Amino acid sequence: MSTARGEFSSRFGFLMATSGSAIGLGNIWGFPTNAASNGGAAFLFTYILMAFSLAYPALMAELIIGRHTRANAVGALRQLATGPVSRKIGTGVGLAGLITVSLILSFYAIIGGWMMAWMFEAITSMIGLDTASRWLAVDAVPRNALFAVVFLALTIYIVSAGVRNGIEKWATRLMPSLLVILILLIIYVFTLNGAMAGVRAYLVPDFSRVANTGLIVSALGQAFFSLSLGVGTMLIYGSYLSSNENLPQTGGIVVMLDTGFSFLAGLLIIPAIYVALATGVQIYDDAGALVAGPGLIVSLLPTLFDSMGLAGAVVGLVFFALMTIAALTSSISMLEVPVAYTVESLGTERRKTTILIGSAVTFISLTIVFNFGVLFDLVVTLTTEYSQPLLGFFLAIFVGWIWNRNSVLQEVQKGYAGVEHSLFWKIWPFYIRYICPLAILAMYVQ
Ligand code: TRP
Repeated sequence: MSTARGEFSSRFGFLMATSGSAIGLGNIWGFPTNAASNGGAAFLFTYILMAFSLAYPALMAELIIGRHTRANAVGALRQLATGPVSRKIGTGVGLAGLITVSLILSFYAIIGGWMMAWMFEAITSMIGLDTASRWLAVDAVPRNALFAVVFLALTIYIVSAGVRNGIEKWATRLMPSLLVILILLIIYVFTLNGAMAGVRAYLVPDFSRVANTGLIVSALGQAFFSLSLGVGTMLIYGSYLSSNENLPQTGGIVVMLDTGFSFLAGLLIIPAIYVALATGVQIYDDAGALVAGPGLIVSLLPTLFDSMGLAGAVVGLVFFALMTIAALTSSISMLEVPVAYTVESLGTERRKTTILIGSAVTFISLTIVFNFGVLFDLVVTLTTEYSQPLLGFFLAIFVGWIWNRNSVLQEVQKGYAGVEHSLFWKIWPFYIRYICPLAILAMYVQ
């Protein structure tokens, strides 16, 4: 295999791709609904704490391994192994990550597909195609199957073009537009009646809930999912980063961008819920709980947009375009994991490999669509609540206990000569050795 590995062309390109991976449905959908049902600012506060104290160290572990080994997760962990046992564990963790992330992609694409369906719904209702618009608005198997396939086709298209011409190019185009769209939507929603009550509900903390263990566990889970950790996504992006870059700083920026986006998404979604309340839409279900999860984004918000006439259709279009873009820059980072492994270990051609693996994921995704009631929640729970944290645990063990500490230091020094005397190096090695594995185990027990 003689082809050179891909590399991001600049720090900006890396930041866009990596934050593109991190910022996704987890931020714009998962975070606000979690915050709305967990005491607003109490959740925000705990989430930020978890992101910087536990997710950031884990992110650094993946970025450092990736950049040092310049390999996909399986190859990387095999390189770090010090004997036959750790080699086997490394291979197992790498492969399990690859399978997990492919399964995450297969359900993520279904949600991404819903977002695209609603985007087209807004367009068709704007131009008066009522039959099409009604078809697009109904949650049905043919619609969901069609749009999961379209979403995955776009993902395959971008990934097949490679690191620089696919992933980096599209992330640098899409991520800045994402920020602009989000801010415009926030400004618009703030002008609507009822929004300020939502801002208050979001930002005035109910600190009695901060110590709640359920809340801490969901905040940590949210932070891990949102930073795409545990499955080799960040590892592979790190492997495409130039050695001149300061890793602790670059990783810190990614965490800030990711939590910043979640914060902003909360400023959009939670006030929007209260605007809906002010216009008479029911935002609490029969049991008195806030409509959260799927119900929030794909029934509450469309109802709100519908009640606003033409302006609503425009806002709906922009909103679901935002969701689609966010989902797409994340899905490409997921597909890159199995593609990079296959290309590097079997020496296959990138475009063909991407199409083949993408088709396999599409097949799984369609299987879930056709057996939604049985499979969807199951796959989500298995991958995000069991597999992802467990793999994060093993990655922390690899860096903290198996990989030689000096060699870790040498890698970080490459873009940051003085790191040995920095705060980062005083804290992080201890964290990744003891605190991260223990915290993840504690979360697991919960
Ligand atoms: N972080 C993304 C989001 O918040 C999703 C994502 C991308 C992801 N790659 C991942 C989640 C790998 C888990 C593992 O939407």
